[in-house]
Amino acid sequence: MLIGTPPVELPQPPLERGPLALREWEEGDAKSLVEACADPLTARYTSVPIPYTPEDARRFISFGRSPTALPLAVVSAEDASRMFGAVGLHAVSLTRRRAEIGYWTAPWARSQGVAQAALELLSDWALGPLGLERLDLYVEPENETSQRVAERAGYKRGALVRSGIALRGRRYDVLRFTRLR
Ligand SMILES: CC(C)(COP(=O)(O)OP(=O)(O)OC[C@H]1O[C@@H](n2cnc3c(N)ncnc32)[C@H](O)[C@@H]1OP(=O)(O)O)[C@@H](O)C(=O)NCCC(=O)NCCS
Repeated sequence: MLIGTPPVELPQPPLERGPLALREWEEGDAKSLVEACADPLTARYTSVPIPYTPEDARRFISFGRSPTALPLAVVSAEDASRMFGAVGLHAVSLTRRRAEIGYWTAPWARSQGVAQAALELLSDWALGPLGLERLDLYVEPENETSQRVAERAGYKRGALVRSGIALRGRRYDVLRFTRLR
């Protein structure tokens, strides 16, 4: 954390819209996290460890949050034990009023609008009550589903960032998508 940068706190009240709610990760999520992260698409396009073990899940649940990171579980608003996916802020700077945002949807909840709705909900809060002015997300050129999710959630396609992300020791070109307040 940069000296003098305030930590990002959990949304209060917790974020909820329609059938979805966002909450902190809990110990009870470990099993579904392991199941979701065993999915080859999640493994390919995110930085989750491969193979993803129960110990990885416990570590993520206990230590994923930091002063500059707000990882949230996307769950059913009716039954918060039903986990559908993940959305989170990273590299948050409340002083520079910017952050990065990332997401995945568990294989059992795909193609129902979960990623788009979760991305919109967290982005609206971050660019609203949290006070940020700019959110960036990075998508590989071949991940067209994710690019459409970003555009439907109000993000504008920007530059190709050469070797923009590192996943498991390899760097990948990524497209930057940005949403401004
Ligand atoms: C990319 C990813 C996050 C999309 O998650 P998702 O929750 O399935 O996304 P959505 O449901 O919002 O949109 C996906 C598709 O379902 C469609 N859809 C949404 N609601 C629907 C519904 N009710 N019925 C049928 N289709 C629907 C969308 O139109 C979209 O179709 P398209 O690909 O033709 O544009 C998911 O595939 C994933 O987790 N991939 C691996 C990790 C990853 O790539 N993360 C992003 C890194 S940048």
